Amino acid sequence: MQNLNYYLGFFLNQKNETMNKQNLILLISMALFIVSCNPNESKSAAANNNSFESQVDSILSSMTLEEKLGQLNLPSSGDITTGQAQSSNIAKKIEEGKVGGLFNIKTVEKIRGVQKIAVEKSRLGIPLLFGMDVIHGYETTFPIPLGLSASWDMDLIKKTAQMAAQEATADGINWTFSPMVDISRDPRWGRVSEGSGEDVYLGNQIAKAMVEGYQGEDLSLNNTMMACVKHFALYGAPEAGRDYNTVDMSRIRMYNEYLPPYKAAIDAGVGTVMVSFNEIDGIPATGNKWLLTDLLRNDWGFNGFVVTDYTGIEEMMYHGVGDFQQVSAQALKAGSDMDMVSEGFLTTLKNSVEDGSVSIEYIDNAVRRILTAKYKVGLFDDPYKYIDLDRPKKHIFTEENRAFARKVSAESMVLLKNENNVLPLKKSGTIALIGPLANTAVNMAGTWSVATKQEKSNPLLDGLKTVVGDKANILYAKGSNVDYDLEYEKLVTMFGKDIPRDNRTDQQLLDEALAVAKKSDVIIAAIGETAELSGESSSVTNLQIPQAQKDLLNALLKTGKPVVLVLFTGRPLAIVDEDKNVPAILNVWFPGSEAGLAISDVLFGDVNPSGKLTATFPMNVGQVPIFYNHKNTGRPLGNKEGKFEKFKSNYLDVRNEPLYPFGYGLSYTNFDYSNLKLSTDQMPVNGSINVSVDVTNSGNYDGKEVVQLYVRDVVGSVTRPVKELKGFQKIEIKKGETKTVTFQITVEDLKFYNYNLDFVAEPGTFQVFVGTNSSTENSVNFELIK
Ligand code: BGC
Repeated sequence: MQNLNYYLGFFLNQKNETMNKQNLILLISMALFIVSCNPNESKSAAANNNSFESQVDSILSSMTLEEKLGQLNLPSSGDITTGQAQSSNIAKKIEEGKVGGLFNIKTVEKIRGVQKIAVEKSRLGIPLLFGMDVIHGYETTFPIPLGLSASWDMDLIKKTAQMAAQEATADGINWTFSPMVDISRDPRWGRVSEGSGEDVYLGNQIAKAMVEGYQGEDLSLNNTMMACVKHFALYGAPEAGRDYNTVDMSRIRMYNEYLPPYKAAIDAGVGTVMVSFNEIDGIPATGNKWLLTDLLRNDWGFNGFVVTDYTGIEEMMYHGVGDFQQVSAQALKAGSDMDMVSEGFLTTLKNSVEDGSVSIEYIDNAVRRILTAKYKVGLFDDPYKYIDLDRPKKHIFTEENRAFARKVSAESMVLLKNENNVLPLKKSGTIALIGPLANTAVNMAGTWSVATKQEKSNPLLDGLKTVVGDKANILYAKGSNVDYDLEYEKLVTMFGKDIPRDNRTDQQLLDEALAVAKKSDVIIAAIGETAELSGESSSVTNLQIPQAQKDLLNALLKTGKPVVLVLFTGRPLAIVDEDKNVPAILNVWFPGSEAGLAISDVLFGDVNPSGKLTATFPMNVGQVPIFYNHKNTGRPLGNKEGKFEKFKSNYLDVRNEPLYPFGYGLSYTNFDYSNLKLSTDQMPVNGSINVSVDVTNSGNYDGKEVVQLYVRDVVGSVTRPVKELKGFQKIEIKKGETKTVTFQITVEDLKFYNYNLDFVAEPGTFQVFVGTNSSTENSVNFELIK
């Protein structure tokens, strides 16, 4: 009864308000509500739910229309702003009951202050949700999501989400705007960095792992937080890779290739869904009833609440579908429940109710869903549940969390090239560290790391020094600015992630670097993108490393010393020249707060790299969009060498193959595949089949390999991809050891959405490929029989 006492105490002790009739009604309903929700009560879950619903209804019945609209309103705290709009006078609005939640406000003290206003000063005392973009860790920051996905390790990914929840909730946050599960095949799009790459099967697993990690078994615990899958839907497929641009896609492609990860998050119980900025079939997603009601709620059974993206409602006016009142009504009626920042619901829905264009049921339903979410995260149990001033010290950015982040970062790195085993380096002699990314703490966390203390991240220079200790001599030179063009450099180093411009001439910078290089046995070139060169609103049309850094790299190569390229990037880059000329390339993405240490662990072989690309690296931007699970076409290229053939589907000036395929990544050791076999070559529709392969570590190091299984449906009622990932296992194999890896294929793995959008498996021949990346041709066939 502690909760009931809490509310009794609250109502009886209110300083500024006398107990009026409505307070009393609310008190009674909340008391009933709390009793009915108490997990210690011996009622069945179903009975609990029912009575919970009736209590929500009873709260609803005591709310004015203005208070209801307040629950649908989600302003930004103003600490962090994106887009154009910004809310003001937040405290006053909260007091007036015009706010349902707040986002991107940091520190438990501040959140406590704001929650107090809601609970003690607003008429109904309904607690607020506190949201934040906790995307890849909180203060302890993990690699950007694209990097995280390259670990192919679901337990690890789940644990990053758990740890992020542990830290964020210690700071008062109870809702994260993650996971971002937008499939993207277009590296021009800057937000490719925030997702898990191009593949739907892998995307499904990661969506599930993250939701489970954030929400845990019990959302009402004070160390779990509500997740929000985003951006629903298809946001990763904007025309020409330009952020916020139009999306136009066939239903069959949507269902097979883009929608499943959102569904996977919903099946995993995600509490909320964020709508995307783009249009779908000519209707902005924010106001798209087919998307938000027919598909999401009716077909998929989602019962949480839907939040718009930042100013999503306001932007519908620019899409050209109505004035502010019309688009607000459209968004609500389509299925958007909470309005992030636009304040369209708050300021126009009353008129729409009055003029009859919106019925009150829509508003009540949305309020009901939001109150239910508040209940689920435990705020009606105790509005200060997430507020414990002692927790931050105990849980945030602890040594233990940082040690875990260091491990995760190393797991995400992808070795792209290692000619003559330049890597791993020896901890001896003189090592030159050169490049504009070598000594920058603030860029290490990468994009969308709202909570990170960027200056506390570990830059490569520090990490190297720590890891080699006094065993080797480290020399450093910046070598070049990020880019020759100062204006461009400013654009890609915003939000405090600057790399101060060095005002020496380009030649002076280079001379210093060459002098350092000359004294060294090996050169580590730390170059690539800055953190803000990817992420939201950071689309590009050139996928090369900025020219100033390319020139620096070429000059370093000319010294004849071995060069290791440590590539920082938030997207697949077209690094054909580098692949040709640099002996070793380690792609480190943006590794997070323990960047320098983790990179050094890999460079010196304390960790053998095992990351694999989850997005194809193209030869050039003209190949984009490029992805492994494409269709065959009626005129596929007939030769494996990639030689041009007239009247075949290919380019005159570049091969069809990418630079590095999906699933690609090297190790310091070698893995040999042999003995691929099936348990049987006929699989009945109600049965399953086992595929096994032997993997031998034939090199000189223990290592981890991601064994990948792909399937091709050879003949379909609609055209089918040339192969699709249907399984993977990340295994550890000691040097000299052979392991047999077995996969089971069931009929579920063979299903797809056909022309009528039925999810079916069609009898016929299937080709099964198992190998080290998606380009493997090692295959066996079986028949699916009725
Ligand atoms: C982004 C979302 C983010 C939101 C709140 C928007 O600009 O598209 O991903 O969750 O801002 O910060």
